Amino acid sequence: MARILLTGATGFLGGAVLHQALSRRDGTEWVCLVRCADAEQGYQRIAARLSRFTDLFTARRLARQVTIVPGDFTRADQDADPRLDDVTHVLHLAADTSYRGEERVFRTNHLGTLALARRARLMPKLRRFLHVGTAMSCGADAPTLVREAPPRPEDRHLVAYTASKAAAETSLAAEFTDLPLVVARPSIVVGHSTLGAGPSSSILWLVRAADRLRLLPTETRTGIDIVPVDWAAASLLGLLLKPDLAHDLYHVSAGEGSLTRWPDLFRAFETADPEGDPRLVDRFDFADRAALRERFAATFGLDTALKHAMLRATRAYYMFCALDFTFANDRLLAEGIAAPPSLPDYLGACLANSTDIVEQFVDDLEMFTASAAAEPLPLTATA
Ligand SMILES: NC(=O)c1ccc[n+]([C@@H]2O[C@H](COP(=O)([O-])OP(=O)(O)OC[C@H]3O[C@@H](n4cnc5c(N)ncnc54)[C@H](OP(=O)(O)O)[C@@H]3O)[C@@H](O)[C@H]2O)c1
Repeated sequence: MARILLTGATGFLGGAVLHQALSRRDGTEWVCLVRCADAEQGYQRIAARLSRFTDLFTARRLARQVTIVPGDFTRADQDADPRLDDVTHVLHLAADTSYRGEERVFRTNHLGTLALARRARLMPKLRRFLHVGTAMSCGADAPTLVREAPPRPEDRHLVAYTASKAAAETSLAAEFTDLPLVVARPSIVVGHSTLGAGPSSSILWLVRAADRLRLLPTETRTGIDIVPVDWAAASLLGLLLKPDLAHDLYHVSAGEGSLTRWPDLFRAFETADPEGDPRLVDRFDFADRAALRERFAATFGLDTALKHAMLRATRAYYMFCALDFTFANDRLLAEGIAAPPSLPDYLGACLANSTDIVEQFVDDLEMFTASAAAEPLPLTATA
């Protein structure tokens, strides 16, 4: 019987994984390492997250099925709680996903992950340690079709967050060869294929803003590698529990087959909003800061601090869109995991329960409130 240690259960992907796994009722035990004062607060935090996927009553009932271990994964190596000893699988999702606070992001994502790995060494029954990285661990200079490969020290990163995730992968591979380590790298997780914006509006606001701005930093015929959270959760569960895997590194991504192509996406917006103007989208040069600022001011206004933060966030995400990366998912599909839907397939569900775009941005606000996010510096993976 599997006994799974989950970090990040109170986050977007963690909530989706836990909701799906607990709804299966297959007898698997879930141990959640949660930042909380005591177990009661931990249950409440997990129930609050699960309630984005189901009604509050069910969410509370499901939350009671997990074992809460209060704690911080970055100090897991000092945690002698015996409930961690019998763990058979680790699903490490927790991370600082902020685009600011370089030192803190490295301390959490790089050094913290190594602390968890040291604790995992003391789990004699451990069969898999699934570390969740990011597809952007490839750095900014990868070829347009990105295939799974270990990070290289010379890779250039646009933000400290992706550099810290690459550094964690590098150190895990070098220092923990004794662990049954597998790395899963999601691309961009947006919405839920049936619950739409209910679980989170993270990055959905950006896609909607691009539609309203009618402006892209890339060829308007290309695409963006987006997957829904329920599919990403199912894929992670597959990689966690499948006894034998062909590889130790997987993209959890749309790949060429399910890529969200911009023309299809804008057609889907037109279908959802037949009264609106035709989507005639302009391309702009990403280096032209004034072009985005002027279009943003004309579309949303720049009259509040929130909108200024949203402009910074739009610029930061557009910087990644301009790379035009597609993350190959052949390895994942070859493990028997079904291809994801593309965003145009479930955009209707996302728009059906969406609020105002600026309000939706609040889901990602924390990542962009410091000025560091406005001017990300090129970093190397070892920075
Ligand atoms: N969402 C995406 O588009 C995407 C794409 C690629 C990769 N990923 C990766 O997928 C993973 C999950 O992402 P997400 O979007 O679900 O992130 P999220 O919503 O920001 O959740 C982050 C989770 O990590 C927990 N956490 C952070 N620091 C912690 C600490 N020191 N100790 C214990 N828990 C801690 C948070 O707990 P609190 O609630 O206590 O803060 C929260 O549960 C991350 O590793 C991320 O890098 C996500």
